[in-house]
Amino acid sequence: MKIALIGCGRISKNHFESIKHFPTQLELVGVCDILEERAMAAASEYITKPYTNYEKMLTETKPDIVSICTPSGLHPEHAITALNKGMHVISEKPMGVNLEMADAMIQAADDNHVNLFVVKQNRLNTTMQLLKAAIDKGRFGKIYMVQSNVYWTRPQSYYDMSPWRGTWALDGGAFLNQASHYVDALTWLMGDVESVMAEMRTLERKIEAEDTGTALINFKNGGVGTMSVTMLTYPKNFEGSITVLGAKGTVKIGGVAINKIEKWDFEDYDDSDRMINSVNYEPVNVYGYGHIPYYENVLKRMSGDSDAPFTDGRSGRKSLELVLAMYESSRTGQRVTLPLKKD
Ligand SMILES: NC(=O)c1ccc[n+]([C@@H]2O[C@H](COP(=O)([O-])OP(=O)(O)OC[C@H]3O[C@@H](n4cnc5c(N)ncnc54)[C@H](O)[C@@H]3O)[C@@H](O)[C@H]2O)c1
Repeated sequence: MKIALIGCGRISKNHFESIKHFPTQLELVGVCDILEERAMAAASEYITKPYTNYEKMLTETKPDIVSICTPSGLHPEHAITALNKGMHVISEKPMGVNLEMADAMIQAADDNHVNLFVVKQNRLNTTMQLLKAAIDKGRFGKIYMVQSNVYWTRPQSYYDMSPWRGTWALDGGAFLNQASHYVDALTWLMGDVESVMAEMRTLERKIEAEDTGTALINFKNGGVGTMSVTMLTYPKNFEGSITVLGAKGTVKIGGVAINKIEKWDFEDYDDSDRMINSVNYEPVNVYGYGHIPYYENVLKRMSGDSDAPFTDGRSGRKSLELVLAMYESSRTGQRVTLPLKKD
């Protein structure tokens, strides 16, 4: 399949390396960035054609799949243009910054009978796969509580690198950008959400959105969840963790980015218990190694393997809705019930 990529910034490298990993299945036919030097650099490293206008690239190269790595608030425009041309789309997370545009993306994919994938590579971490399997097998019994900490560091220089970072129109803050995989993990593991309460703060960084916040989540299954997130941790990224506490099991996946099983304790034995030390890994950065397995998953889905998990537009929308509900709660000081009403 022919694939093209829009947005040659930081995360694009993970996509390029993933595309390179499947040389017999994927051919990179074009890359686009409004900054010509970025498009040129990516094109020369990955041997393809550079563009500075994505519509021109789509028209000329006619890809089957388009990967979107532009600022979050631009994903809907770029995705809908590609979907309406009958192309499949892999959108970086979050799929957008509001539900109206997320719904328009889902509708465009449905109307054109093509796939809309939203990157949730952390679900494919070996550690998270083991935890999800334990939940699906019912090993925890009733789950009372889940807790996620994202104690990372993003200095002012990170936000100053690009004008879109930390803005409401194109990014959001610590929950919608940096911690969005953790929000996604909570809904993936615990199911639908009844209501949320949250406090968001911009304590230090000169940005519109939050650098710090806490949230309390009531799940429909009766369990409660809490999240504590800050981008102000001294002196560097310290913890990215998820803890699940159930009647018959306690698990903490921690490390700096859910890369290490720190606690794995169940009432009943299961063969997977023998794997817990071998699934830990050291990530090069907090993005982890999940993009290659993510692309593998996309290729499996596209070749008709319906058993392969599908992080599509609808599941991308779920975590977006949850973060937006947290934002609304913080803004209004009220508990917010899901589903969210659209303005
Ligand atoms: N999956 C993950 O773990 C992960 C990690 C980091 C970032 N992301 C997501 O990836 C997206 C990009 O983040 P980043 O850190 O790479 O940002 P970045 O600023 O480094 O890169 C974005 C690129 O898009 C380009 N661009 C902007 N408008 C464009 C347009 N109209 N046409 C073509 N190119 C355009 C910019 O010039 C820039 O090079 C964000 O949505 C972010 O949330 C996901």
